[in-house]
Amino acid sequence: MAVGAAVRRMFGPYETQVGDLYRSFFVDLDAQLGTFRRWAPDATNILEIGCGEGAVCERLAVDFPAAAITGIDITPRVGRLFHGDPSRVRFEQIDAGALARREPAKFDLILICDVLHHVPWDQHRALLREAHALLSPGGVLVIKDWERILNVGHMACVFSDRVLTGDQVKFGTADYFRGLLADVFGSGAVVDETRVSPWPNNLMLFVRPTRSAPQ
Ligand SMILES: C[S@@+](CC[C@H](N)C(=O)[O-])C[C@H]1O[C@@H](n2cnc3c(N)ncnc32)[C@H](O)[C@@H]1O
Repeated sequence: MAVGAAVRRMFGPYETQVGDLYRSFFVDLDAQLGTFRRWAPDATNILEIGCGEGAVCERLAVDFPAAAITGIDITPRVGRLFHGDPSRVRFEQIDAGALARREPAKFDLILICDVLHHVPWDQHRALLREAHALLSPGGVLVIKDWERILNVGHMACVFSDRVLTGDQVKFGTADYFRGLLADVFGSGAVVDETRVSPWPNNLMLFVRPTRSAPQ
């Protein structure tokens, strides 16, 4: 188990609250959710790829009361800390490729939040192509990632990811993410972008594909 998971388990019943407090140093989750709502207010079938233990899905269930929500992750801990109405939210340990083969073109909003810096860079395109195959016609994708901008927040983020999660993380620049998304989803596919407080490193990109998904 990574150091971070072991430390967090020490907090027992307060694990969620401590995790939320810790996250709030890095990102304002209310602002992040507000951006999802602004960009895709009418989403009815939402998928979060790399949902971890379920914190974002929990907020999505509240902020999109009419939507069905699916959270997937490769970790066996997927959805472990979700507290909320389970009737509209499902979690599964499965990779995006396997889900795309089973449920292609199903989701009108797909979110990939703070996942790409955990994925080896030579696998970014494949993961995004799988996300494309999961998008319904007219569906949209939101990428939230941590941009490599040198500041105190970045030093804390590198420490947190490398030491606490033990992952070999690698952070991209906004130009890297823009180019990657244009490559996979077509030129002009990135239709909006914003930063989320409290750090300018919190980059969000809004993608509306301009080419069809690979078959
Ligand atoms: C920093 S956590 C983010 C969790 C969640 N998205 C959030 O914002 O709270 C990164 C997650 O990405 C997951 N992950 C890494 N590689 C993945 C992949 N290829 N497919 C799906 N999830 C992946 C990890 O297991 C981990 O749960």
